[in-house]
Amino acid sequence: MDNIYMYYFSGTGNTLYLVNQLKECISEIIIIPIASLLDVDDIVIPKSKTIGFCFPNHAGHIPIPIKIFLEKIRLEGDEYLFAICNSAFSKCFAPDDFVKILKKSGCRLSAYFNLIMPDNHTIVAKDYKIPDKEEFKKCEDQSQEKLSHIKEVIMNKEKFIEKDDKPAPFPVWIDKILGPIIFFLIQKHPSILLKGRLYADSKCNSCKICEKACPANRIVVNHSRPIFDYKISCFGCYGCVNFCPVESIQVASKWFNGRSYSSKNSRYPHPYASVKDIEKQKTKGI
Ligand SMILES: Cc1cc2nc3c(=O)[nH]c(=O)nc-3n(C[C@H](O)[C@H](O)[C@H](O)COP(=O)(O)O)c2cc1C
Ligand code: SF4
Ligand code: SF4
Repeated sequence: MDNIYMYYFSGTGNTLYLVNQLKECISEIIIIPIASLLDVDDIVIPKSKTIGFCFPNHAGHIPIPIKIFLEKIRLEGDEYLFAICNSAFSKCFAPDDFVKILKKSGCRLSAYFNLIMPDNHTIVAKDYKIPDKEEFKKCEDQSQEKLSHIKEVIMNKEKFIEKDDKPAPFPVWIDKILGPIIFFLIQKHPSILLKGRLYADSKCNSCKICEKACPANRIVVNHSRPIFDYKISCFGCYGCVNFCPVESIQVASKWFNGRSYSSKNSRYPHPYASVKDIEKQKTKGI
């Protein structure tokens, strides 16, 4: 079989864990981080008949970097395209997002899967708890089982669009009206929505981990607390929030994302993911 190019984006390591696991069962897979390609205007996809995308569910949709990436790539039109989304609890409209974006290139998704992984949106739920060892093991076992099914579907190039009938994170009409406006503002005028949203409190020790973890390169730490560049679009991955070793980065409450419990709740990076792994996503040529 030809190489399978697998493009991924991961904020806190859940997606990275899944692509690495899939690569262990399918040796033809070549993993490519999307964050390393976003500043390239014309992204050339190596000629391959099988191309995959793996990403987290962000507010019921594909994350901003996946959207930017899909809009930039050129495809032949006859590739077998598959997508693997991972969510904490709710439905993701990824197949609809793919249809909309790929329409221009005359391509369509052949297979779509959704896995459940621990929630890294640790700041929105009042009673958020990091999964303990047992819960995490259960999640690992479930994903292993699902990955063997995914392998079978991909290797046989079957059509398979997983039915995702969990509840949507927002009423669909709100999503339809506000979603495109929020997407537009975050991409084109990020400061309008994001100014003051993320900040580091007095616990910050200037270790620069947040700067390394930020896939959008919008954090700079110069001998003091991090400066967030509000002219650069934020991917909303919460890598900075979750990897900060002293839980210094806080998320301010704002109307479009409800209350923030960042000062009370603990943080979740995937237990096998290091900041180095996340930072590596920005390295070109891997
Ligand atoms: C900004 C943001 C929004 C999210 N929205 C949803 C959501 O709508 N539904 C859901 O089930 N999970 C949601 N999540 C949780 C992530 O999809 C989930 O934890 C995923 O496994 C994280 O993958 P990563 O570690 O590769 O970034 C959200 C996470 C973030 C940071
Ligand atoms: S990771 Fe945390 S402690 Fe380190 S520089 Fe960033 S905010 Fe400060
Ligand atoms: S600022 Fe934080 S949430 Fe935004 S892209 Fe960077 S790491 Fe992700």
